[in-house]
Amino acid sequence: MLKTIAEVLTLSATFLTDHQIERPRRCAEDLLASILKVKRIDLYLQFDRPLVESEMVLMRQYLKRTIAKEPIAYIMGEVEFLGCRIEVTRDVLIPRNETEILADLVIKKLKVLEPAKRVLWDLCTGSGCIGLGIKRACSSISIVLSDICPRAIELAKSNSVKNCLQVECRVGDLLQPFLNEKADFVICNPPYVSKKEFDLLERSVRDFEPSLALLAGDQGTDFYERLSIELPRFLNPRAQVFLEIGHTQGGAVQEIFRKVPWRGSQILKDWAGHDRFFFLEIE
Ligand SMILES: C[S@@+](CC[C@H](N)C(=O)[O-])C[C@H]1O[C@@H](n2cnc3c(N)ncnc32)[C@H](O)[C@@H]1O
Repeated sequence: MLKTIAEVLTLSATFLTDHQIERPRRCAEDLLASILKVKRIDLYLQFDRPLVESEMVLMRQYLKRTIAKEPIAYIMGEVEFLGCRIEVTRDVLIPRNETEILADLVIKKLKVLEPAKRVLWDLCTGSGCIGLGIKRACSSISIVLSDICPRAIELAKSNSVKNCLQVECRVGDLLQPFLNEKADFVICNPPYVSKKEFDLLERSVRDFEPSLALLAGDQGTDFYERLSIELPRFLNPRAQVFLEIGHTQGGAVQEIFRKVPWRGSQILKDWAGHDRFFFLEIE
């Protein structure tokens, strides 16, 4: 006898509860909506619809992956980020809420500046979420996405096509893809986890997300150190730089950038009230 959407949701939520998965009902809904390619709300409009065998097989596989602590974003293969549909694989970090706040803050700034024909680089782009979210909101700005991981850049490129957004994509170590070029805006969410913090990360992060996207030396500040030294010669006058930082790194990052000839710098907080972003304007 085929099971209905309502029955599968109830059984799945119970199974996830038994395996101590957080928000089990929500999780079951997200997985099933992804399998049926409908919005979560639509499940409730077709409660009596029976699932065919192939859908049941997939749901069982998804539930098994979930209790093995694989992040649900990798299972579903896609997240929404500032109105863009961003495919995610284990080659890239799953975009975080804090990063959406960063991109949104930058969009608000760019809208005031009306940066037509100006250039923004999204360094350490991963899935491309930041640069693509900004391009969707500010179409006249030229955006280049870059990352050291070729598979991440392939995915960022494919995400740009999926969202019908025209950006350039380059592979290379930090600023190496931009030799002899200058930007007006640079945004970067670099790896910022120290070795010590890495060992304390949740299993779902440590075991599934790429360490290349997380680890940044003994203190977690390697990329800020590098950017403070390497970035100035890649910037046009009055260029602005927008960085995501770890919530304990505000003081350290301010200290690192103290040596550079910046007009001003500012630490901004996330919704939880933690230091999370560092904005700079060069002389
Ligand atoms: C914290 S993730 C950020 C991904 C994405 N921007 C986001 O916010 O979701 C950092 C990214 O930096 C990339 N990366 C690591 N080392 C790098 C390097 N030396 N040069 C350029 N990119 C690097 C990783 O491949 C990863 O995609």
